[in-house]
Amino acid sequence: MPDANCRTTTWKSLGSGRSTRSTARGSSASGRKTTRAGVGMRGFLFVNTHAPLPGGAVAERLRGFRRESTLRKHVAMEIITRRGLRTMEAAEFDELRARYASTLVDLGTGDGAWPRRFAREHDNVLAVGVDADREALREAAKLAERKPARGGAPNALYVAASAESLPPELRESADWVTVYFPWSALLRMILAGDERLGEMLSFLCRLRSRVSIVLNADAPPEGVDPPTLASVRSSLEPPMDAAGFRITKCEWLDASQAPPTTWGGRLVKGSGRAMIGLDASR
Ligand SMILES: C[S@@+](CC[C@H](N)C(=O)[O-])C[C@H]1O[C@@H](n2cnc3c(N)ncnc32)[C@H](O)[C@@H]1O
Repeated sequence: MPDANCRTTTWKSLGSGRSTRSTARGSSASGRKTTRAGVGMRGFLFVNTHAPLPGGAVAERLRGFRRESTLRKHVAMEIITRRGLRTMEAAEFDELRARYASTLVDLGTGDGAWPRRFAREHDNVLAVGVDADREALREAAKLAERKPARGGAPNALYVAASAESLPPELRESADWVTVYFPWSALLRMILAGDERLGEMLSFLCRLRSRVSIVLNADAPPEGVDPPTLASVRSSLEPPMDAAGFRITKCEWLDASQAPPTTWGGRLVKGSGRAMIGLDASR
């Protein structure tokens, strides 16, 4: 179910160390009563007064809010459909999510074949493919919007966004995040154990959730050493830990364990390259 405890309403930045105080009452997108907790005069956090959050959870959300200060121009989440781009507001996305038992978010989804496949196999899951490349998503959306008998999946959705600046609508939406065969900026972030990865997962994931990452160990970005199990674990432990995730598995995968994505298929066909799979949960 969507978490209606907390809704941010402005993208103005917060000053650090300001105290939180209650200023007004209103309703959240789901119609629940909320108290607007003003932070200085520069930003607001909506807290569901029927299910108040513990102080630590409010602080965590405030940290996320501060991060969103770079998203001032955000209008609504960009969805790619067969007909092109449309926007989806938080209320519509929450309503959509509420129709399913859980939500998969596939970051760097490419042609989106994996979320469509997963959505077809699990009709109680909303499978969301996210990629910065809109053209690839257009093709993905065309296939997903076909009739189910012809390979379509009404429970697959494609969002145009980069992993570094995810739309606020995706906040705390994911029960399972997959990152399969990332490249460029996303791969660099993972191999470097960039703290933004932890921030991204804190932002994206629900309280009890899982993250699965599979890397092509033979194709590191220029200037970066090929990853090993030890280097992946030691890079990812700090950001995972910061996001409250514990690494449950980090191992070499053989061809039979490759995730069923388009790139997984290519790598397995072409000479069985080295793959590292990492799983984490909280
Ligand atoms: C090698 S493809 C893998 C696609 C798919 N996961 C698969 O396994 O078939 C890597 C994808 O990551 C996407 N990507 C790279 N950096 C990204 C970023 N910072 N944010 C979102 N997508 C990114 C690229 O656009 C590309 O589609």
